[in-house]
Amino acid sequence: MKLKYSIATIILLATQTCVFAQKVNVKKAFKQAAAQTKLMLQEVEKAVDAAKPELISPRTLDNGKLKLVASRDWTSGFFPGVLWYLDEYYKTDEWKAAARKFTTLIEKEKTNGTTHDMGFKVFCSVGNAFRLTGSAHDKAVIIEAAKTLATRFNPKTGVILSWDHSRDKWVNPVIIDNMMNLELLFEATKLTGDSSFHKIAVSHANTTMKNHFRPDFSSYHVIDYDPNTGAVLKKNTHQGYSHESAWARGQAWGLYGYTMCYRYTKNPIYLKQADSIAKFIFDHPNMPKDLVPYWDFNAPQIPNEPRDASAAAVMASGLYELSRYSNQGSDYYEKANQILKSLSTDYIAPIGTAKGFILLHSTGSKPSNSEVDVPLNYADYYYLEALLRYKNYKR
Ligand code: GLY
Repeated sequence: MKLKYSIATIILLATQTCVFAQKVNVKKAFKQAAAQTKLMLQEVEKAVDAAKPELISPRTLDNGKLKLVASRDWTSGFFPGVLWYLDEYYKTDEWKAAARKFTTLIEKEKTNGTTHDMGFKVFCSVGNAFRLTGSAHDKAVIIEAAKTLATRFNPKTGVILSWDHSRDKWVNPVIIDNMMNLELLFEATKLTGDSSFHKIAVSHANTTMKNHFRPDFSSYHVIDYDPNTGAVLKKNTHQGYSHESAWARGQAWGLYGYTMCYRYTKNPIYLKQADSIAKFIFDHPNMPKDLVPYWDFNAPQIPNEPRDASAAAVMASGLYELSRYSNQGSDYYEKANQILKSLSTDYIAPIGTAKGFILLHSTGSKPSNSEVDVPLNYADYYYLEALLRYKNYKR
């Protein structure tokens, strides 16, 4: 038989395919993440204070000091989530035990109805626990958490109330971040057969689509609603540069959120929304070449502004999922790879530093001068999620 291609060409093509497939070095990235997280477990033990037993989960570094938060903090579920992702990758009893230990400390949030952050807290921790272990106990926690979150839905506004605080500024504030909490509700319907959770999530997604977005598909951070009529009272920011600017993490929450809504509903309007958000983000002239955005696309001193690695990690993870649904899939896949390549080479903490955080260079809230250019537990969480999505990628 005569071969169409020479052996040398076949070897060259195979090598190139292999190089392409290994563009992101997952093994190396997880090795760094595991080494850092082992250090973090030691640092947490040292930082735990008997006088403040409620402080249990590492969030960031404050002037180089490890900051632990209580389970009620919106970020409390990310460290347990990091541990579950390490367990998913390595499948060892050690990671599982650590993940379970920190998850157990968050569970009580299932009845805390004072915030919308239930998804971040309970789904990133207990949600992953259930996905990986199938435990009936975790399932019950997820369902109770969804019931509690549902109490914040107002049929007159059609949305879940985000914050109980800041009443001096807003009557009924709803933030774009809230899209991320819908996953818990969609999942609760799948687990119970009770469609009311799913319906609330759809109402929230539709109302947010109507009121949070500008014609160019960038989003406002905070929309204030009249709780009795549903009328929009204000379109503002809280963590962005200005009311009319595009706060980077907010754009990332929207991209990830509408992609996830499409997963559960298969409604093409959500796919279109996610495509349009992606277009805004990646066509933006202020998006740097390495695809790790500045903290706000309209920050005034670009390029001399801090980056937000957390926004990049959320975008990468969302893009891997969106690339499986969208006509622009291969472009999104390449962009997600570029983000992961950047994060895993230029934004990782050298092993043994940063008290065990995995990534450096995130920005929490620049306007409050809070958590600027620091590690943040949610950057680490979505980075590992994106690495796993890359590793397990199937179109
Ligand atoms: N959910 C708050 C933030 O993204 O900073």
